[in-house]
Amino acid sequence: MDEQLVIQTVDEGVATLQLNRPEARNALSDELRVALMGAVEACDANPDVGCIVIAGGDDYFAAGADIKALRDRDLVATLDSGRGRNLWQAVASCQTPIVAAVSGYALGGGFELALACDMIVASETAEFGTPEITLGIIPGGGGTQRLARVIGKQRAMEMVLTGKRINATEALAFGLVNQVVGKRDDWRAAAVELARVVARRAPVAVRMAKQAVLAAEETPLSAGLAHERRLFEIAMATEDRVEGMNAFIEKRRPQFKGR
Ligand code: HXC
Repeated sequence: MDEQLVIQTVDEGVATLQLNRPEARNALSDELRVALMGAVEACDANPDVGCIVIAGGDDYFAAGADIKALRDRDLVATLDSGRGRNLWQAVASCQTPIVAAVSGYALGGGFELALACDMIVASETAEFGTPEITLGIIPGGGGTQRLARVIGKQRAMEMVLTGKRINATEALAFGLVNQVVGKRDDWRAAAVELARVVARRAPVAVRMAKQAVLAAEETPLSAGLAHERRLFEIAMATEDRVEGMNAFIEKRRPQFKGR
């Protein structure tokens, strides 16, 4: 992983991946995307990581795909870049939950990155938008699909067709973000705190819970309910659920082992 583009820290079960390309407003160059994808996959394979935070800087989460590189990409190169796994798929398919910590601009592919995460904590300066249409293209990292599912067709249509941005207050009202943290408060710390709560939970159950909630977007209700039931049954077979229930009855904190 390129330490310069993604700065990684792990503390109390939470891995923080900090995008670090300030000169280009964290625009997602090939190098940054590869570095972030590698970091996410490494965290997902690390049993010491119970939750991941992807954060940007104070004034920008990420300004989208790198327009300077995109300008020179022809159709063949675009088709080539669509083969294999991309960043947004890697983030969406990570089994470990991911919180996006967004301050300032989350635009285009940067917004799609936040949408691919499981929860979003925003500062009150956060602005979300899909400006692709102003460049003559459309979102390509899952934006049209995930945005419509989260905020509804009409609102998504307005954002995607006009490129209009929404602020943190609107994003909260639309159900796009989990919380908005005031200017003086540390938005990054709030995201880490939320991640820390998840990281303290039983790891196997956390992964199953994430999988079950995501299935709600993909499956009809009856299939989703059947899937949830299977995952519940598996959770009931873990050592951690015995520990969790004993801890409740014995009025103590559980010691989960991820088994
Ligand atoms: C490449 C970018 C960039 C981007 C900013 N920069 N965004 N470079 N790709 N997406 C560069 C600028 O060219 C400039 O470089 C430097 O960062 C500072 O940018 P400014 O515009 O001067 O900063 P500011 O005034 O603070 O405005 C910030 C901003 C604005 C609002 C984020 O930069 C902006 O609108 N950026 C483009 C946002 C966008 O259209 N995103 C969608 C991209 S398409 P120099 O060299 O002049 O210092 C996309 C498709 C996804 O995401 C498809 C997925 C498959």
